[in-house]
Amino acid sequence: MKITELSIDISARVVNGLGKSGGRAADGGISLPFLISMAQQAGDGDHVDIGSLYGASAIGVALMKKEAGLEGDVYCIDPYNTEKRDQVVHAAGEMQSDVSASAEALMANAEQFEVELKLVQAVSDPWPEELEDNTFVSAYIDGDHTGDGPTRDFENLRGRVSGYIGTDNFEEEYPDVVKSMLYAADSEDWFILYKNLIFIAIRRIMPMRSDQVYPQAMLAR
Ligand SMILES: C[S@@+](CC[C@H](N)C(=O)[O-])C[C@H]1O[C@@H](n2cnc3c(N)ncnc32)[C@H](O)[C@@H]1O
Repeated sequence: MKITELSIDISARVVNGLGKSGGRAADGGISLPFLISMAQQAGDGDHVDIGSLYGASAIGVALMKKEAGLEGDVYCIDPYNTEKRDQVVHAAGEMQSDVSASAEALMANAEQFEVELKLVQAVSDPWPEELEDNTFVSAYIDGDHTGDGPTRDFENLRGRVSGYIGTDNFEEEYPDVVKSMLYAADSEDWFILYKNLIFIAIRRIMPMRSDQVYPQAMLAR
């Protein structure tokens, strides 16, 4: 997976811009270049962001679509429920940080970056009724990190995403996130695309080598 120059540039702008407006990108934005590159390579089509906080991940993808000339809307799913948020934003580095995000702050940040986000203010499981028939080329899971939350997010996206699903916090601190992606990779329709630091992306499975659809020169590498 190529980490694009555009993704690195946008990540820096988003992290700096949110810092100035009193927001922040989760984990200092270290996963943003990997997410944005993944969405860029997914191409034209809608993207869904589960767990948007101040909007770093969603704004990053929306800016990329705008600047790379890709079609598609960016949907955000976040309940902005304080009690629930405090349960999940508990990694050591995050403990003392400001987590006062709200739907209003998300929209103000989108306006600051001159992008449009479509917010569904709800939890991602059960899957929101208004998105029942939507399909996406890419998705990002960064909402409920505990219990069966991450696996339910994969299950809800599994049949709705045609390209790639990225997830943050694939690390020891979040065993339920790790479990969800190992489960996904063990499914019949999804497999690992790549992993960088705490970001992991999965993809719909490609034809098997034994299906003989690949040129021999590619297989010989
Ligand atoms: C780690 S933050 C997301 C960070 C954001 N993606 C970024 O790039 O800065 C987690 C967010 O998930 C949201 N959240 C928690 N439980 C959720 C759920 N069940 N469905 C959707 N969002 C959820 C919280 O409100 C919080 O805003």
